[in-house]
Amino acid sequence: MDPERARLYPFLPGVGAGLPVARTEGSFLVLPDGRRILDAAGGAVVASIGHGRKEVAEVAARVLAEMSYVVPPFVTEHRVRLVERLREHWLPLGISRCVFASGGSEAIDLALRVARQHFVSKGEPARWKVIGRELSYHGTTLSGLDVGGHVKRRKGLEPWLHELPKAPACYSLRCPLCRGSGGCTLACADALEAAIAAAGAGSVAAFVFEPVGGSTAGALPSAPGYLERIAEICRRHGILTIADEVMSGFGRTGARFAVDHDGFVPDLLVGGKGLAAGYAPIVGVFARPEVVAPIAARGDEVMFYTYAAHPAACAVAERVLEIVEREGLVARAAKMGAVLRERLEAALASHPHVAEIRGKGLLQAVELVRDRASLTPFAPEDRITATLVAAGFAHGAFFYPGGAGAAQDVIVLGPPFTVSESELDLLVTALLKSIDAAVAHVAARRGT
Ligand SMILES: Cc1ncc(COP(=O)(O)O)c(C=O)c1O
Repeated sequence: MDPERARLYPFLPGVGAGLPVARTEGSFLVLPDGRRILDAAGGAVVASIGHGRKEVAEVAARVLAEMSYVVPPFVTEHRVRLVERLREHWLPLGISRCVFASGGSEAIDLALRVARQHFVSKGEPARWKVIGRELSYHGTTLSGLDVGGHVKRRKGLEPWLHELPKAPACYSLRCPLCRGSGGCTLACADALEAAIAAAGAGSVAAFVFEPVGGSTAGALPSAPGYLERIAEICRRHGILTIADEVMSGFGRTGARFAVDHDGFVPDLLVGGKGLAAGYAPIVGVFARPEVVAPIAARGDEVMFYTYAAHPAACAVAERVLEIVEREGLVARAAKMGAVLRERLEAALASHPHVAEIRGKGLLQAVELVRDRASLTPFAPEDRITATLVAAGFAHGAFFYPGGAGAAQDVIVLGPPFTVSESELDLLVTALLKSIDAAVAHVAARRGT
């Protein structure tokens, strides 16, 4: 690819560290010059079954030849098969209604609409507020930004956004709530109760959260007992729970869904990037029948998105899930996640700029700080994560930049479940070299 042309075509020319990619294969991105870059983030933590699966491409080609498009309310064989597979093999017991969107932001918007419509149909129109969490991300629609806690992505759009209540995330590294208590007291869950009281329990429709935080907090697992406590609080106040598993769902954390680790069944479950593993744009909203029953009883509709449940996307997703099952890839994500964690700890646990290594399964993150003892972050203008991502390309790996607010600088790791041990060695070696290169670069820029 001519570099001049490659530079001209981004929407914002000259901004960001875009990489020209010619092909994707297994765990690798192949550049136009033939260089192979390890996809340590699986794209945006998407590529669960690895790149370049011919059998998936063949399914897409076959379905597109027989059916290009139908409006989403029409029923196709491809969609029925996908829903059957989801219900039989994937969804937590008690969740059986499935509706689709083309991406995570759309799907969260849809889940929020369903929650609101549930209460309107039930005759409780006063319930409209949705409580989200700090250090969270639920997409870039205005509703997703409303309920999300990614301050930077809301910036400038505030006149269009609501100031909805927020509860804290389970961010133990800098938790101000349990300080001096000798460990986690689940004060973050109790703070949800306080947020509900402050908002007025009768005005709250739902609580939306990531059971394992994605790129904003950086692979932040729920504290032990957290899900049980928030389930009890929400049930007591008649508030629906919405688990956003756009990133953590479909095997990524070493269970079908991250909520499965705790046996927690939300009212609405949104997932995910792993549904079609990047081979098609499709994300699902899954609900308990009790959530949709009042909407159906009143004969109300839930408006669809034009490309929702596209026949080829459904067929691709169904094949992807079948591959994950056939190859035992959820168990493999757990196993390789443990290997990755062990190697990260060995290489980085005492690194002077690593504050914490955290995560579950193959969703892991490394939080970077300027000073480890005091947890002082790098100055925002150091742009340490962006500098590290650029250094990663030079060392043969793509790392996903994350972090916001208190967790300012986070590198997210989410390789395909098919990743090999030697590829994980490459990942960890490249990460260590990239951290050191980025720190040296920042020091040189500052003249220190
Ligand atoms: C937890 C979570 N929710 C929602 C989204 C938004 O998804 P999309 O980028 O597909 O709109 C993301 C994207 O990373 C996510 O991680």
